[in-house]
Amino acid sequence: MLAATGLTKEYRRGGGRRVAFNAVDGVDLTVAKGEIVSVVGRSGSGKSTLLNMLTGLLRPTAGAVLFDGQDIWGWRDAEISRWRNTKIGYMPQGQSLLANLNVLDNVRLPFFLARRDGEITAKALARLAQVGIAHLAANFPAELSGGEARRVALARALINAPELLIADEPTGDLDLATTNEIMKLFAQIVGDGTAVLLVTHEAEAVISPTGARIYEMTGGKLAGRDKKVMRTH
Ligand SMILES: Nc1ncnc2c1ncn2[C@@H]1O[C@H](COP(=O)(O)OP(=O)(O)OP(=O)(O)O)[C@@H](O)[C@H]1O
Ligand SMILES: [Mg+2]
Repeated sequence: MLAATGLTKEYRRGGGRRVAFNAVDGVDLTVAKGEIVSVVGRSGSGKSTLLNMLTGLLRPTAGAVLFDGQDIWGWRDAEISRWRNTKIGYMPQGQSLLANLNVLDNVRLPFFLARRDGEITAKALARLAQVGIAHLAANFPAELSGGEARRVALARALINAPELLIADEPTGDLDLATTNEIMKLFAQIVGDGTAVLLVTHEAEAVISPTGARIYEMTGGKLAGRDKKVMRTH
């Protein structure tokens, strides 16, 4: 379903003489229908840069992102944005809820950005129930715990019933028990037939649902890590 080939992002940094480096460097990656794939890697290894290119938010310096065989970077901005809000669900890294919208409106937002047809409130409430926080629908983001906020972001990413859910460190700063609960939700989502691409830390990768294919990212390069997966299960 999703295939990246030779995906590269060059950044420049430094003072007067700016030095170019590849934050993502020739990455090949695939996610098949219904599959769960995780990417682990140290801070600064290029994980978020990679996901931002895969979700159509950051234009690659080189390489291609194919979705069902079509190069998304060949589309116009409006087409990319419609695709992002319908075919995929994205949980960006960190706090990503809009502070001035309550939980229900945060979850409904991708619907108003894309589909707009049909009844959405009941669906949004059902998604909130699915992630265990239906009782918080009227609350505002500032009134939520970190784990609750992640659940809202997950419900929001699922609102248009995407074929692929992409999540950037969805349990980044949560305790182990909460991490476990969120990982169980991901397992359930995969069980329902949605493919999932996750960026995780080491500990989360180990408790990821069995069957997850794991890539390791180092200095912008991606490598398979099948041997390690076999050792940890
Ligand atoms: N807009 C930018 N301009 C220049 N350099 C950037 C830019 N964005 C990110 N970088 C650099 O690219 C590298 C990869 O950053 P990225 O955010 O992708 O890492 P990450 O693996 O997601 O890290 P973390 O685990 O901390 O979220 C880092 O060295 C970062 O400093
Ligand atoms: Mg990151």
